[in-house]
Amino acid sequence: MSKTYKIAVIPGDGIGKEVMPEALRALSAVCQRFDILLEMTHIDWASCDYYTQHGTMMPDDWKTRLADMDAILFGAVGWPDSVPDHISLWGSLLQFRREFDQYINLRPVRLFEGVPCPLAGRKAGDIDFLVVRENTEGEYTNLGGRIFAGTEREVVIQESVFTRLGTDRVLKYAFELAKQRSRKHLTLATKSNGIAISMPWWDERADEVATGYPDVQLDKQHIDILSARFVLQPDRFDVVVASNLFGDILSDLGPACTGTIGLAPSANLNPEGRFPSLFEPVHGSAPDIYGRNIANPVAMIWSAALMLKFLGETAAHDALLHAIETVLVQGPRTPDLGGQASTTDMGVAIAQLI
Ligand code: NAI
Ligand code: MG
Repeated sequence: MSKTYKIAVIPGDGIGKEVMPEALRALSAVCQRFDILLEMTHIDWASCDYYTQHGTMMPDDWKTRLADMDAILFGAVGWPDSVPDHISLWGSLLQFRREFDQYINLRPVRLFEGVPCPLAGRKAGDIDFLVVRENTEGEYTNLGGRIFAGTEREVVIQESVFTRLGTDRVLKYAFELAKQRSRKHLTLATKSNGIAISMPWWDERADEVATGYPDVQLDKQHIDILSARFVLQPDRFDVVVASNLFGDILSDLGPACTGTIGLAPSANLNPEGRFPSLFEPVHGSAPDIYGRNIANPVAMIWSAALMLKFLGETAAHDALLHAIETVLVQGPRTPDLGGQASTTDMGVAIAQLI
């Protein structure tokens, strides 16, 4: 018996519009093979084109239109030449994350065979970890303001917000994930020596949550040396949990250490399924390469695979990932991987393997 899932498909801007068709191609192949039905709703808002026409990133009723979806598949948003980035991002993606309480941002970091690693002497298998980023609070808030603007007394304050609810749930999620993996190791990103109020408290919450996971080894590291170790000793890591800001940085640095941002996927999860979760590549709209059909589609296709896994379709996820692994070894490869293939060539090759 086949299952039906309702999926909102939002390509967004720039290369989001080039890589999304390849994710849909791969999904179509894998769903046929595993007898899964996806009922897709194609959406042109949450894009700068829409903003240019309507003066807003999304229609007023966006939330009701998306609320009963099982998942959202998202390309990338941003076109700085026509819309300032804080408007496009706060008007779309950050609304989804907050309003749909997608409090986990999960980003796998993996070095694949066939992908040149910028770190000397590393081979496939040496780097394989997960970054779990808090996605709704912490350092990313709109609390604060400017006073005496433009004068010598000008003062700017931006507040961070850490709640017990928000912190404990991301820590628990990370401990659960670590517990299911063979190494059972969790690294906590902190900065309790410098950020003297919120970060010591964050460490305390981790100690408290850790009492429920005696079999998981907890390793606290300050964010500065932790970043250095991503580069110098990436094999040390299994699951890494971090606040919103630290997680944002780590989850770009991690994939950068494995070759190209064109491979890195992410999942914005509301684990309880009260709201739809959103799956998107880590990269943005890449205006510098848009229009040439050379963007690497793997990050988008892998994000679609993460969506299938979250929906419980593990075999379909594994098949997609296997096809990605094979194409990374055999080619065709896009220019960011040192090849000359187009976005379409690579997407077609992945779909054909399925
Ligand atoms: P970006 O990720 O779009 O591009 C950074 C660099 O990586 C560029 O040189 C680009 O060509 C390259 N690149 C990115 N994806 C690639 C792919 N799939 N294949 C090959 N090369 C790839 O980041 P940037 O330039 O800082 O931002 C551009 C726009 O994207 C901005 O408007 C920004 O706000 C937005 N953005 C949106 C995100 C999202 O929707 N989640 C995330 C990051 C940026
Ligand atoms: Mg980022």
